[in-house]
Amino acid sequence: MERTKLFPKKFLWGGAISANQAEGAWNEDGKGPSTADIMQCNATDLNHLSVEQINAFLKDHNDQNYPKRTGIDFYHSYQNDIDLLSQMHINAFRTSIAWTRLFPTGSESKPNYKAVSYYRNLFKNLRDHNIEPVVTLSHYEMPIKLVVINNGWTSREVMTSFIHFATTAIDLFHDLVKYWIPFNEIDSVLRHPFVSAGLTSNLITKKNEYQAMHNQYVASAKIVEYGRKIDPQAHFGCMITGLTAYPYSCKPEDDMLAQQLRHYTYLSGDVQIKGHYPKSTYRMLTEDLNLDITNQDLKAIATGTCDYLAFSYYMSVTVGTENDVAQVEGNTIKGKSNPYLKQSDWGWQIDPLGLRILCQDLYNRFQVPLFIVENGLGARDVVNDDKKINDDYRISYHQQHLVQLEKVINVDHIEVMGYLVWGLIDIVSSSTAEMAKRYGFIYVDRDNKGKGTQQRWPKKSFYWYRRVIDSQGKNL
Ligand code: BG6
Repeated sequence: MERTKLFPKKFLWGGAISANQAEGAWNEDGKGPSTADIMQCNATDLNHLSVEQINAFLKDHNDQNYPKRTGIDFYHSYQNDIDLLSQMHINAFRTSIAWTRLFPTGSESKPNYKAVSYYRNLFKNLRDHNIEPVVTLSHYEMPIKLVVINNGWTSREVMTSFIHFATTAIDLFHDLVKYWIPFNEIDSVLRHPFVSAGLTSNLITKKNEYQAMHNQYVASAKIVEYGRKIDPQAHFGCMITGLTAYPYSCKPEDDMLAQQLRHYTYLSGDVQIKGHYPKSTYRMLTEDLNLDITNQDLKAIATGTCDYLAFSYYMSVTVGTENDVAQVEGNTIKGKSNPYLKQSDWGWQIDPLGLRILCQDLYNRFQVPLFIVENGLGARDVVNDDKKINDDYRISYHQQHLVQLEKVINVDHIEVMGYLVWGLIDIVSSSTAEMAKRYGFIYVDRDNKGKGTQQRWPKKSFYWYRRVIDSQGKNL
């Protein structure tokens, strides 16, 4: 599809992964165990784990049951992978730093030097390929010790340990990294408190979840304040889960539910970009839940605000009071089946126009540059005899989203920094810990048990994306 309007010259085109879904090497070179390393493939509930279960999983040495332990072996293969990724002509790549690689238990004062050299080499390698590293500091993994001994992010000690990790990372890598995201989908603490904040099943209460999220807001603010002093050129983004919300019907009660979901989506931007809680939320947190929120916390939040709003976008959610409507799955949030939308193989409702609606909402409210740091389609790919993967469905998904994004930029005049495809190379799924759910434009020959040749094969989408980038979005 040829278009007349182009994407901006300095647009960041690229892809994104996370350390825990890609690196593997879970117990090599001094890395400590993290919450991601005990995630079983397709387990029924990855989010309600007791300390006993966690300890039992840690003693299980059958790595085949825990795909994130081996990932796609990016830790060892990153040089070849970046060579291949760069052949799509991307100029940005988002990944995260594994906390447990730098600080194996989370409590050390000095970082593990092997991890320092790994990440320096990784970021340098990206730069050598003219690819801007975009680095997340917390992406769904944390040291097990801080979970079983310190109660995860409900604890201020954990906050202190994380700030130490994050500021050390900034000290070590700020010459190579200019785009930072302190927390991946910070709002997700309320949807999956174990994965996002290390809350074991006995700790899962509304109060603890909000306390953990508050502690992450404070940590983020302190990291941003520190990072700006160390490197005034650096950019710090808050990152949320982009969920466009629709009422199932025009019944006011249905719109009320949609409105609540929108407020939930906006909350982290309110705190991290505007620098304060909305009054009603603050009242709920202090009066109803009696959270531990100090004046210093509020000062830190007001000072360490972010300069761009990053978000993931996969789907929209439809909510309503009608009971007879089928429920569909989604990005860790269920909703009603929307008759106007198609679904992915995993039941996520595909909604390109929803991306434009969300961009308008977020920009109207926050007036800072937006950055789409995850967008993609999880699908079951078929490899032909000649090793070709014709993923037209994936091309169509991205094409439709980019058509909307071009309008966001050129018609709505919204500042968009870039567009990163989630899992540009196949990685282990976050929510189901399986390899079968693939997002990549590069196929990794590896199954849920880690079996396969481990070879990488460009899919049809690989060549499509290169044409899009080369034409500045003209040839979608
Ligand atoms: C995002 C996460 O919410 O969704 C990613 O930041 C994740 O880590 C992505 O991989 C897609 O989810 P899943 O469960 O299909 O991998």
